[in-house]
Amino acid sequence: MDSAEQTEQTRRFFDTAASGWTARYANDAAVGARKARFLDAVQTRFAKPVDVLDFGCGSGDIALHLAGAGHRLTGYDLSAAMIEQARRTDRAQQVRWVARGADAALPFADASFDAVVTSSVLEYVPALDVTLKDLARVLRPGGWLFATVPDMRDPHRHRERWLRYALTIPGMAALLERSRWREGAAYLRISTNRMAPAAWQDCLRRNGLGPEGLPESTGPLMLLAARKA
Ligand SMILES: C[S@@+](CC[C@H](N)C(=O)[O-])C[C@H]1O[C@@H](n2cnc3c(N)ncnc32)[C@H](O)[C@@H]1O
Repeated sequence: MDSAEQTEQTRRFFDTAASGWTARYANDAAVGARKARFLDAVQTRFAKPVDVLDFGCGSGDIALHLAGAGHRLTGYDLSAAMIEQARRTDRAQQVRWVARGADAALPFADASFDAVVTSSVLEYVPALDVTLKDLARVLRPGGWLFATVPDMRDPHRHRERWLRYALTIPGMAALLERSRWREGAAYLRISTNRMAPAAWQDCLRRNGLGPEGLPESTGPLMLLAARKA
């Protein structure tokens, strides 16, 4: 699948999921911890309110949580339907919401943000180096990127391997499409960036972002933290 096709599949997947996303999060106990994890990452590096980009903000839960703590937030997403959900939730208009246009490059000036948070997004981007370089571009010198990505050390990711393997067998994708693994298969088709922690760190380094020490394995998602030189 080429870059344009992967982007379209990802957009379709999240446009379709958008209307149920807020309800899905309302029933997910892990969402509170996820919001706290990003707020804590920002608050431990910055004593005052800062400019934050939430790249791939989805329905806006993390952006709104950080804005509620006083930070100045921009939420950006590939899916216009997700941005629409976020706008509807943000009645007090605390966040600037931006849907991606035709251009893959971020529509923000160089050095616009002190921090970028990106929760469960980098796994989907087709040209990871291009995206990371662009995220580094919009960060101010000394700014931080915080990203959660699949932690391949976690048993949950081990279990996904068989499904990923099944997708490579001719005819199996069509079969899975009609099974209870339908959504999992669609997710795994677009979640293509799945690497060991050291490989993620190499990726960050070659795009101008200095990663902190190896992230601990605490669940299916690991938090990468990297600073722009
Ligand atoms: C699993 S959701 C996570 C949403 C949110 N970050 C959260 O943790 O609640 C992934 C989001 O990333 C967005 N996304 C995927 N690829 C993207 C890209 N290249 N640029 C911007 N957003 C992207 C999707 O549209 C979707 O809303």
